[in-house]
Parts: sequence; structure tokens; C-alpha cells
Amino acid sequence: MARMAVNVDHVATIREARGIDIPDPVLAAGLAELAGADGIICHLREDRRHIDDRDLRLLRETVKTKLNMEMAAVDEMVTIALMIKPDVVTLVPEKREELTTEGGLNVLAQPDYYKDIVARLKGGGIPVSFFIDPDPGQIQAAHQCGGDIVEIHTGHYSEARSEPEAVNRFKKITQAVEMAFGLEFRISAGHGLNYSNIKPFKTLPQIEEYSIGHSIVARAVLVGFERAVREMIDLINGF
Ligand code: PXP
Repeated sequence: MARMAVNVDHVATIREARGIDIPDPVLAAGLAELAGADGIICHLREDRRHIDDRDLRLLRETVKTKLNMEMAAVDEMVTIALMIKPDVVTLVPEKREELTTEGGLNVLAQPDYYKDIVARLKGGGIPVSFFIDPDPGQIQAAHQCGGDIVEIHTGHYSEARSEPEAVNRFKKITQAVEMAFGLEFRISAGHGLNYSNIKPFKTLPQIEEYSIGHSIVARAVLVGFERAVREMIDLINGF
């Protein structure tokens, strides 16, 4: 059975919309674990737009399952990761102007650079995952760089505008998963997965873990909304 790890970045995004201290992604992580999540994921971005250093530190102290730190492959983040020691690091591309991670890492463009980053992280005892597009060249490059895990980027699939497009993009994911499995990678998948587009993935038992954030936070806002309104009404009615 595949594992499901919850990305709590967007709990922090809601917090940062007000610049105050609620909702706390650390509390959300604890609740996710109580609900059965197999892991917690957060992305410490260079601009700290959602998760910040305090969140990462407290998540490291409190996460009981597995903490996966997503980060850009840059010196600052390598230093932080080696200090915090997450259970896994996922290397992702990062652009300041993007709303969210837009594509997989282009490992193929700078294999020597990534090989060095992987060696430094693995030297600190941290397994490394590469977040890459379902592209054979990228999978091969991730293998050459010594990655332990590949996380297949499902964002293009999730953005498909028609059924044939979705089928076509899912086929690319299937081929990538088969190739990565043949290379003995551990395989994850994520980005843009939601309560309906995840269904075809039952045909891919090679995928060990799903990384899901936005759709869970979005659903939590709606399924929790009535209760939150009722609780405030009850409070005011008690005046
Ligand atoms: N995997 C990676 C590498 C990501 O950057 C993200 C987004 O932070 C996710 C998975 C989760 O994507 P989503 O929030 O769309 O579920």
C-alpha cells in the first residue's frame, strides 16, 4: 500500500496572508499524523514566503513519522539541511517569481553540480530525492548523480485540459515510473494531485509515496467551514 505524506506549506501560506502566527503548520502536521499521514513535507524557500526556519526547526522536533524537506539545491539550504537533519531532502527547482514549483529539476543540465550536492547531503546521512519531470533523460541523470528517490512531477498531468491529454500525460508518468523502478529508485509522485485525478495511480504500485498539499488544505477549508462558523455563532450567542 502506498504511503501518503502531507505538505503543510499552504497552512503557512494562510498564516503569512496575515503576517500573524495562525494557523500553525506545525499543529497541522501533528493533526495530519493523527489522521494517519505517513510523512510531513515542507518547502523552505529561499524567500521564506510560507514555511520559515522556526517551522522547520519545530517540525524536526515534533514530526513522529518522516520529515521531508523540499529545497533548492543551493549552499544555504544544504547547510540548513545538514544542521536540521530531515529524514529526506527533496531537491526542487525554485524561481522567485513562480506561484508554486512549476516543473521538475533539470538535473540533466548540470549533473556535476547536483552530484556534489547529493554527495554533501548523503555525507550527512540524508537520503536525497530528485523532483523531476517524467522524462527518461532526467531519470538517468538523477541516477548518475546518486539520488536515492525520484519524485515524479505530476503537475503537467494534473493540468491536462481534456481526457486524451490526461491519458497521454499519464502514459508518460507510467513509462517514467517503469524506468525508475528498473533503476531501483524508490519512487514518489506529487504536485497538483487531488481527490479525483489521483484515481488512475492505482495502476502504478511501484509508487511508494504520494506528496500532497494544496488539495488537502483546500478541502480542509471547505469541510471545516460550517463547523468553524457554527463555533463562532455559539460563542457570540453565549454573550
Ligand atoms: N512535490 C513537490 C516537489 C512540490 O514542490 C509540491 C508543492 O509544494 C508538492 C509535491 C505538492 O503539490 P500540491 O501542493 O499541488 O499537492
